[in-house]
Formats: sequence, C-alpha cells, structure tokens
Amino acid sequence: MVHPKSIITSFDFIIIGATGDLSTKKILPALMKRYLDDQIPEKSRIYCISRQSFSLDSFLKFLRKKLSPKQLTINQKTFSKFLSKIYYICLDVTDLNEDNVNLLKGHLEKSKNKIRLFYFATAPELFGLSAKVIKSKNLTNLKTRVIIEKPIGHDLLSAIKINNILNGCFEEKQIYRIDHYLGKETVQNLMVMRFANQIFETHWSNNSISNVQITVAEEKGIEGRELYYDAYGAIKDMMQNHMLQLLCLVAMEPPSKFDANLVRDEKLKVLLSLKIIDDPNDIILGQYGGKVENKKFNTPSYLTDSKNSNSETETFAALKVNIDNWRWAGVPFFLRTGKRLKKSASEIVITFKPIRHFIFDKEIENSIQPNQLIIRLQPDEGLKVLLMSKEPGPGGIRISPSSLNLSFSDTFKNKIPDAYERLLMDVVRGNQTLFMRRDEVEAAWNWLDPIINKIKKLGIKPTIYEPGSWGPKSSAKLIDKYGFSWHEPDNLKGI
Ligand code: BG6
Repeated sequence: MVHPKSIITSFDFIIIGATGDLSTKKILPALMKRYLDDQIPEKSRIYCISRQSFSLDSFLKFLRKKLSPKQLTINQKTFSKFLSKIYYICLDVTDLNEDNVNLLKGHLEKSKNKIRLFYFATAPELFGLSAKVIKSKNLTNLKTRVIIEKPIGHDLLSAIKINNILNGCFEEKQIYRIDHYLGKETVQNLMVMRFANQIFETHWSNNSISNVQITVAEEKGIEGRELYYDAYGAIKDMMQNHMLQLLCLVAMEPPSKFDANLVRDEKLKVLLSLKIIDDPNDIILGQYGGKVENKKFNTPSYLTDSKNSNSETETFAALKVNIDNWRWAGVPFFLRTGKRLKKSASEIVITFKPIRHFIFDKEIENSIQPNQLIIRLQPDEGLKVLLMSKEPGPGGIRISPSSLNLSFSDTFKNKIPDAYERLLMDVVRGNQTLFMRRDEVEAAWNWLDPIINKIKKLGIKPTIYEPGSWGPKSSAKLIDKYGFSWHEPDNLKGI
C-alpha cells in the first residue's frame, strides 16, 4: 500500500454538482483535510461547477457556511488559503452555456498536462450526459479520470446503460466507481488481516467456519433523502454495494499480488458464485414505524419521514446467502442492514465450528461456546476474538468465554481518515484497487435482480419494526432457523 503521505502530483479537480450534499459533506471536506496534510500541491486547483448562478465570492460565502472550519479543526487563515484554490463556474450539463464551457476550458488549458479529475457529484441520470459533455467539449486531456458514486443504476439494465456510455467515452482504467465502504480503514484492514496473517487464513473456509454475519446497522433514518430512498430502499441502497463488497472481501481467494485488477478479479469470482436465493423465507424486509417506548427513538415512522403514507419501501433487509464454491459450500452468510436500529454498528462476525471432541467434565460442556472473530468496522474500530478459558480458582475446571481485544480506534487514535480522503488521493495516484470495476457492479445487479423480482412477484412486504430495535422479529427467526443467532453489537463494548 502507498503511504498516505506519499508525494502527490499537482492536479485539477473538477466537481460537477458542487453545491450538493455529496460535494459539501464529503468531497470538499476530504480535500480540505488532505490539504491540511500537505497533500494538495501548490499548483492544484479545484473547479466547482453547478447550475446555480453564484459569483466566486458568493459561492465561497456559501462554502464557508457549509464546510464549517470549526468542525473540521482548521484555523481561519488556513481555511482561507484552501478556499483560494477554488474557482466557481456556473454550468448546467443539460443546458450548456458555451461561454462558461470556454471559461472552464481556458482555465484547464493553462496546465494541459496536469492530472484532471472529474467528479460527477450529480444524480446518476446525469452521469452519462456529464461524460459526453466533457468529452465532446474537449475538456479532457490524456490524464483525465472520472469519478462516480453509487447508485450505478437501479437494476442490471440501467447499470449497463450507464457503463456503456462511460466506457464509450473513457477507458475502464480512467473510470473510478466509488463504494465508500472500500475506503474505510477497517475494511482495507480486512484484507491485511486475512492475507498478512497465517493464523486466520488456514482456518478461513468451511472446514472451520460455521457461519458469517455481516451487519451494517444505523441509528439514523433517511435524513431528508426521501425521494431517493423511497425509490431505492435498503436492498438497492446498501445490499447491492456496501454489503456485497464486504462479503467479497471476506470470501475472496487471495490474489497472487495486491494489484488492482487481480484483487477485483477475485471479488468478481465471489459475486459470480453467489447462489440464487430460492427460498423466499431467506429474504426478510422491514420498515420502521409503530409504537415506540424508548424516547431516543421516538421518531416519526418511515411513512412520515418519506412523506409517502403508502410506501412499501424497506428500511431493513436481511438475507441468507450462500456462495457456491469449494471454500464456502455449506457456510451461510447472513447479511442485515437497516435504519433506525438500536445502535449504529457495522461488523463482520465469523463464527467457527464447535470443537470436535470435549475432554473436560460433561457437566461443563454446555458452557462452551464456539470461537468467534468479530471485526468491528465502525464505530470503535477493532477486532475481538472470543475464546474459551479457565476461570481462575481451585476446585476443578470451570470454563467461560473471554476475549482478546484489539482496538484500532485507541491504537491509531486520530489516524483513521475519512474514507473519501483515502479514495480521492488514490484517484490522483491512479490506483484503482479500492474502486468497483464495471463487471463487479453488473455482477452484483445480476445476482440481485432476481431477488428483487421475487419480492415483487410474491408480494413480499416489509414487516413493521419498532425504531430502536434490531429490526423485525422475522430477522431473528431467519437466523434461528439455521441454528444460529445474530451477534448483538452491544457486546462489543470494551474493544
Ligand atoms: C450510503 C447510503 O451509501 O451509505 C446511506 O446511501 C447510508 O443510506 C450510508 O446511510 C452509510 O455510510 P456510513 O459511512 O455512514 O456507514
């Protein structure tokens, strides 16, 4: 891996859709933090493009409010220096103003050979058009890279359509599809943990593992994104991308080298090995609502939040997934994600098979639990191994669970950057390892489309769950049916 402070070459960073949430909440703050870390070279420029007719001054005023230097712990002087890198150009890709196109072109041509990054921070419907515009108006150079963010389509066909346009304008090596989960430190650490340690890898298969759970739970709701969320729901918003990417990192074979295409080849093989979900009972959907006892979660129901009193969009989904290959045959992967759940916690729990033969007194056999490896992605990033150990004291052997805890958040305090910081600098460096390749995105939709069709065809509706719970009761029943139970993320305190 490249050291985060490796030398970065000057670049022009063009954000199309610069006044939106993605730009002001993620992209610009990430660039600002990299600036604080001396990773935005002197000659780099940031061009903010949007439909709104701001002057540079009024745009900077708008940014000053949005970026809130206090929260980002940057002093006013440095903040102003960072802002001096920014230019604003009013441009609507659906209704081009040629003068402004030329204005942007004029700026970019001042440094023809600089790395040029275009971030399409727009609605996905505009990805294709934005690509065509920058290409046909000669705004690109040989060092151009384009960045887009999920959702890439809403099904296989729409994803293919977007990809066809992008790949028609650019080579695949110029296209960076962000799944921000891949930029999270602990997610990258998953690969290091697996492939730089012998103790895990030798047990990493159906020989030793009984089941894998992947949970991405959020306390928050849809936060004003009702139009988008109501059309997508948890399966398309989270399963298709973040959850499947995590599953790939857990299940993939070791690539021969840590190289962008070799890593992505291995992830693709996992996606292509996912078994079709035949049993509709292995698909659980939920929607938050109903009566709430807990004040903290006494929030409006999803129907109110979405402003759609008839909505049948799921805010929770749990799936039992199988991977049809040699390593994972017979090992269920349980995936669950939801909004307004009891606790915000993302974790991967690997549960090992029970020991093969118990040598201690039969009476204490029940106190034995299978070993578990719990990888906490956020918050309190860390790793915990649940082991059986002897309770201290005389009078025979008593066994109880104890744990080995490794807290990344304590060990690397203040060193865990935001996912976007890492990803944006990787685009500048031209490293595609942590970005989704076209075939991965399409393979994920190809697996998911039949599930979505089944949900429609069989009329599977979300069950209402109480905000502040762990989702609908059917989610616990799903895993219970296979003889397991969900790991309760609360137990992780102390990591
Ligand atoms: C986004 C989803 O991709 O990821 C959101 O659209 C979700 O619905 C978010 O809240 C979760 O990301 P994080 O980094 O907060 O775990």
